[in-house]
Amino acid sequence: MAHRRTYSLLILCSIVAAGYGCGSKEPAVPVQPVAIAPKHSFVQNGSVTEMTIVPEDVALPDGPGKNEFQSYCGICHSLKYITSQPPFSRTTWEAEVHKMVEKYGAPVDTNVAKVIVDYLMVLNGK
Ligand code: HEC
Repeated sequence: MAHRRTYSLLILCSIVAAGYGCGSKEPAVPVQPVAIAPKHSFVQNGSVTEMTIVPEDVALPDGPGKNEFQSYCGICHSLKYITSQPPFSRTTWEAEVHKMVEKYGAPVDTNVAKVIVDYLMVLNGK
C-alpha cells in the first residue's frame, strides 16, 4: 500500500506544483506518458511545426474536422478543457475559435477555423 500512497502524493503534487511548489520529501520523478505519443504537425507562418501531444483520454466522435480539431486545439490546453465546456451555439463557438486566434495566437486560418467550428457543433453544440 505504501506504493499507492506515493502515487497519490505525486498526483497531488503535480496538481499544486505550478502555484505552490511541492514539499521536497518526494524525489521529483519525471512523469512519462504511458501510451505512444503521436506527432501532430501544424502550419504556422508558412512553415510546418511538429510537436508531440501527450495522448488524452477523451472520447471524440468521428466526423469532418476531427483531425484539425485534434491538431490545433490541443496545442495550448487539453482537448478535455474544450469538451468539458457546456454546449454552445454556433455563434458562441465561432467567437471562441476567433478569440483563440486573435487573442492567443492559435495558428488557425479562416478555412480551418470553419471546419473546426463545424466539428465543435457535432462535439458540443446546441
Ligand atoms: C495559442 C494557444 C491556444 C490555442 C492553439 C487554443 N487555445 Fe483555447 N485557450 C487558450 C487560453 C490561453 C485559454 C484560457 C483563457 C482564459 O483563461 O481566460 C483558452 C481557453 C479556451 C476555452 C475556455 C473558454 C474561454 O474562452 O476561456 C475554450 C472553449 C477554448 N479555449 C477552445 C479552443 C479551441 C476550440 C481551440 C482550437 C481552435 C483552441 N482553444 C486553441 C489558448 C489557446
